[in-house]
Amino acid sequence: MLKQVYDWVDERLNITPMWRDIADHEVPEHVNPAHHFSAFVYCFGGLTFFITVIQILSGMFLTMYYVPDVINAYESVKYLQNEVAFGVIVRGMHHWGASLVIVMMFLHTLRVFFTGAYKHPRELNWVVGMLIFFVMLGLGFTGYLLPWDNTAYFATKVGVEIAATVPFIGTFIKHLLTGGEILGAQTLARFFAIHVFFLPGALLGLLGVHFVVIRRQGISGPL
Ligand code: HEM
Repeated sequence: MLKQVYDWVDERLNITPMWRDIADHEVPEHVNPAHHFSAFVYCFGGLTFFITVIQILSGMFLTMYYVPDVINAYESVKYLQNEVAFGVIVRGMHHWGASLVIVMMFLHTLRVFFTGAYKHPRELNWVVGMLIFFVMLGLGFTGYLLPWDNTAYFATKVGVEIAATVPFIGTFIKHLLTGGEILGAQTLARFFAIHVFFLPGALLGLLGVHFVVIRRQGISGPL
C-alpha cells in the first residue's frame, strides 16, 4: 500500500533522486568516530541542529498557552507549568535546550576553528556561521524576557543598558528594543515578535544556506 502511494507520487514528481542524493552521500572516513575516536568532534554541528529542531517544536507548543502581554504573560507561564498536561516537560525542554544549544554551537565553532575548517574555500560559511551565532544569542536574549518575572525583567534591563553603551547608535538600539523610555508593554510585545518570528525566520534561512554550502563544498579534509 505504502509502496503504491510512493510509486504514484514518484511517477509524477520524481522524488527518488531528492532523498537518494542525501542517503547515498558518503561520509568520509576521517569524520567517522568508528575509525578515529577523535572524530566525535564532528558531531557537534549535527547536535546543534538536533537541539535547534527541539527548540522550534517545543516553542511552537509553548505559544499555544503563552500570552504575550504584561497582564497575562507571567500567569500564562505559571498555568502552563503547573496545570497543563506535559506543560512542565515542554517548558523544561525549551528552557534547558536554550542553554544546551548554545553550548553545542560553541563546541561546533571550536571544532571548526581548531580543524582550520574556516579557511579557504570555506570562509563564506564561517561568516554565515557567525551570523547564525548572533541570531542564536538574540534568541536567548529575547526569550529570557518572556516569562515576565523579576529575573526576566531585570536581566533584560541590564542587557538593554549594555546595548545602550554602543558608541553612536546605542540609544537608537535601546529604543528599538524597548519601544520607549522604559521596559514595558511595548518591550514585551517586541521581544515576543522578535523571538518567535523575526529571528527564527532569519535562522531557517541562514541554516538553509549553511547546509547547501556544506553539501556543495563537502566536509573539510583530515588534518
Ligand atoms: C545553529 C547553529 C549551527 C548549526 C546547526 C550548524 C550545523 C553544521 C553542520 C551539521 C555542519 C557539518 C559538519 C559538522 O557537523 O561539524 C557544519 C559545518 C560548518 N559550520 Fe556550522 N552550524 C552552526 C553554527 C555555526 C557557527 C556558529 C559557525 C562558525 C562561526 C559555523 C561554521 C561552520 C563551518 C565553517 C562548517 C564547515 C566545516 C567543515 O567543512 O569542516 N557553524 N555546521
